[in-house]
Amino acid sequence: MKNIRIAIDGPASSGKSTVAKLIAKDFDIIYLDTGAMYRVATYIALCNGLDDTDGASIIGLLKENPISFGNSPEGQLVYTGEVDVTHAIRQNDVTNAVSKISAVAEIRDYLVDVQREIASHGGIVMDGRDIGTVVLPDAELKIFLVASVEERAQRRYKENLQKGIETDYDLLKFEIAERDRKDTTRLVSPLKQASDAILIDTTGINISEVVSKIEDYARKV
Ligand code: CDP
Ligand code: CDP
Repeated sequence: MKNIRIAIDGPASSGKSTVAKLIAKDFDIIYLDTGAMYRVATYIALCNGLDDTDGASIIGLLKENPISFGNSPEGQLVYTGEVDVTHAIRQNDVTNAVSKISAVAEIRDYLVDVQREIASHGGIVMDGRDIGTVVLPDAELKIFLVASVEERAQRRYKENLQKGIETDYDLLKFEIAERDRKDTTRLVSPLKQASDAILIDTTGINISEVVSKIEDYARKV
């Protein structure tokens, strides 16, 4: 398992990051959250009054303040330069702007290069939207996770409640569906299942069942 590369793609809240982190722990391999990288690009854009017409400036700022990851008892930390943006990149303003920034071809080219470099030694599980189709088309195992939009909105709703945040379920559902629409219809690297990816519908399936299914596939390849 030490050198395996596992690609996990799928729409928002299908369980990618939860499942990927557990697999990384079980197999003692790296976990890379590529969504966090697009979120950092979006955060930088918002902080500097830039938008999707300013790709080159956003890349310049990303190069000056490289994205890095750390660990804490509460989970993974995300930095840009020296700044801890772990919480800032999960705020609504970033979530609602990220699909626009992640549709910019030059930003994708830059981040895909960084992601491939991190994956170049193998032993990695990456989650995102284009890992199996673009970033690691020759990954040893590709998984495409889906779940109904109602269940995904329910999961986010519960997750927010656990953090003490009361959200409007219908609004959450609308925002998730809207992000799916933008991610699947964009011209560059749209969210889609790779032809050789294994589809797992996680509607009504708990996290440990999904993890053990994927780990069984991994042991087979
Ligand atoms: O966790 P959640 O499903 O809310 O999203 P995420 O994985 O943090 O990704 C945030 C956004 O980044 C997505 O909605 C996509 O627009 C973009 N993204 C992408 O375009 N390509 C990736 N490989 C990962 C994320
Ligand atoms: O990374 P992605 O946006 O695909 O989803 P996530 O952040 O891993 O999962 C969203 C929420 O759904 C989390 O609170 C997970 O604990 C929960 N989840 C679940 O209840 N059942 C699953 N099979 C997968 C995730």
